[in-house]
Amino acid sequence: MKPSMVSLMSSLSTLPPLPRVASSADYLALHSRFPTTTYLRRAAPKGAPVFAYEFGDSGAGDDVGIAHNWSAFDALKFKPRYGVVHGPGEVSTTLFGQSYGAPIGMSPMGGLSLVWPGADLIMARAAQRMRTPYTLSVAGGATIEDIVRVAPDVAWMQMYRFANNDHAIGWDMLRRCQEAGVRAVVMTLDVPVRTTRSREARSGIAQGFHPTPRMLWEIATRPRWLLAILRHGYPRFEMLRGYVGPNAGTNEVIRFARREMGGGFSWEDVARYRDRWKGPLVLKGVLHPEDAEKAVALGVDGLWISNHGGRQIETLMPSIECLPAIAATVRGRAALMLDSGVRSGHDAAKAIALGADVAFAGKAFLWSLAALGDRGPDYALELMIDELRSAVAQTGAATLQGLRGAQLWRLNAAPSMLMST
Ligand SMILES: Cc1cc2nc3c(=O)[nH]c(=O)nc-3n(C[C@H](O)[C@H](O)[C@H](O)COP(=O)(O)O)c2cc1C
Repeated sequence: MKPSMVSLMSSLSTLPPLPRVASSADYLALHSRFPTTTYLRRAAPKGAPVFAYEFGDSGAGDDVGIAHNWSAFDALKFKPRYGVVHGPGEVSTTLFGQSYGAPIGMSPMGGLSLVWPGADLIMARAAQRMRTPYTLSVAGGATIEDIVRVAPDVAWMQMYRFANNDHAIGWDMLRRCQEAGVRAVVMTLDVPVRTTRSREARSGIAQGFHPTPRMLWEIATRPRWLLAILRHGYPRFEMLRGYVGPNAGTNEVIRFARREMGGGFSWEDVARYRDRWKGPLVLKGVLHPEDAEKAVALGVDGLWISNHGGRQIETLMPSIECLPAIAATVRGRAALMLDSGVRSGHDAAKAIALGADVAFAGKAFLWSLAALGDRGPDYALELMIDELRSAVAQTGAATLQGLRGAQLWRLNAAPSMLMST
């Protein structure tokens, strides 16, 4: 062996082993196949039917919004500090009076049981296990009562606008959230109009589920997905189904949602929800500091900075680029959540360094389901927490609080633009 190789090996062997969040044999075996969520994405179309994968993975237009969300994160680099911290960072946190194991949450995703049957409950269980926030979409495949049953400490509920009958459905959902004991209610602001994603339209499911021979072939050639249907049941919109009828079929619920649900919440709606919902209230889809200021003035507890993962229109600013200005405006008067483009714990670390309290991810968990089925979200969450802990250590911070002081530099831009203080 060359001398340089010997000295490298001996210095490696004297380093303390990196204590891992996840050190089980199962985790390590998965890590050797899927070392980042990008590998999960590559495997996803082989696990779920292509039409289901396309529904979940696609963005508006030509997916340019998704690409920019990712490149905005990739362009940010930490300026590290060494010689101070000797192991992975501590990442537990407290939000709205509730303690969480890590500041990495699961974004609400409607129709997810199409990508993987039973997805909502599988994800909620994983979140409860790791004590991280889980958000059920109002168009989700489980009821909020079932979610709270499996994830009592971490369940959040997302709502869209049902304006008919003076918000009768919205008020009923708030009542159910109250009775079930959800930890936060999230109002999504950023869907003033309905969007059809290009790849979703081309895959044939934009107008409901009407199986074609090609779709049936895709299902027949994904035996694990078929088994998941046997185990968890046919994809449904359980949260909405109760308002349509106990025996309503999936397409009937989709038609109901198209008729009853939609249009962005107005500030007046936000004020009324604030009045009715006594628990933590979060507004999702905020990108402009003036909207952030309005929300704070209305007594909202949290702002969720998001461009809907590039699924609405592809020309919205990446949320990570909007975060510093919003953090500077809000100055701690509301908690800050961020999603859109988070694919790793390193991305989460960047969001936290720039002022977010919790980073959320959507598609990364969806890929984990399609690639690995029921154990996917457990693995993806552990992977991201592990990455976050190592990023905390690389910046010389021992804790999330310390990470806030880390400096970020932006590739191809004036470094001062995004320096966190
Ligand atoms: C399949 C899918 C369904 C979604 N459904 C909803 C929804 O019902 N309500 C909502 O507020 N956001 C929804 N979103 C947006 C996510 O909550 C989140 O903002 C986005 O996925 C974050 O970006 P990322 O996928 O890059 O992590 C959905 C996203 C996906 C991928």
